[in-house]
Amino acid sequence: KHLLPVYDKPMIYYPLSTLMLAGMKEILIISTSNDLPIYQKLLEDGSKFGLSISYKIQDDPNGIAEAFIIGEKFIGDDNVALILGDNILYGKGLSNMLKNAIIEVENNKNSVIYGYSVKDASRYGVVEFDDEKNIISIEEKPLKPKSNYAVIGLYFYTNEVIKHSKTITPSERGELEITDVNNVYIKNKNIKVNLLGRGYAWLDTGTPQSLLSASNFIQMIEDRQGLKISCIEEIAFRMGFINDNQLNSLIKKLPNSEYKNYVKSILWK
Ligand code: G1P
Repeated sequence: KHLLPVYDKPMIYYPLSTLMLAGMKEILIISTSNDLPIYQKLLEDGSKFGLSISYKIQDDPNGIAEAFIIGEKFIGDDNVALILGDNILYGKGLSNMLKNAIIEVENNKNSVIYGYSVKDASRYGVVEFDDEKNIISIEEKPLKPKSNYAVIGLYFYTNEVIKHSKTITPSERGELEITDVNNVYIKNKNIKVNLLGRGYAWLDTGTPQSLLSASNFIQMIEDRQGLKISCIEEIAFRMGFINDNQLNSLIKKLPNSEYKNYVKSILWK
């Protein structure tokens, strides 16, 4: 699914660009043994984008939190961020928001997650507040959501996340729930739950309808501004991950398209 196009580029470009805008260059992609080779063909070892991309297999749907067990060696002693392959984030100030999360984790040893107001909260992990608007817990896919704030699929964690993922047990749907990991952090009082304002777009592409809406949203903004959202070639260049020559090599490999013309135009601006 994460290779399907959202308007003019593969879905995975969107979460990938979020990590790149946060300044992250070391990335681990986790997928099934069937799909992983396609990602490898598309992104290779990441060096063409100035990144270092590794790959690991998760064949059974054991849950999002299993990523930290699968990725234990990759993470080592570092702190770590996780983004789900179908989460699209857009909005002014996004880069700063991401950088602030990293500072919070690195300097204050607090993990950081985000809540976003949605109409259909029962599809997600949902934040529960007390009367003073403090977060008391998160409920995964509640039938009766206690707020309309869904937890988005972007998480910044301290290294303890590996330990927590090993201590939680599978939920009724048989998954190691990321929500259970978050609840451990909430209990230990070392997580910040930031609520995203209405100026941000958090789109997920989990249903045919939301996939189409996401494509329409991207098309509308891109066509109006003449600027692309989540063009990883552009982000790699503007972040200084690659130079003119490397961008030129990327351009040469792109098929003739409006996308290629756009990437070419970056060099002239
Ligand atoms: C997952 C998480 C959920 C979160 C959502 C965001 O849901 O379990 O807490 O709100 O991603 O996209 P799932 O993809 O498992 O339905």
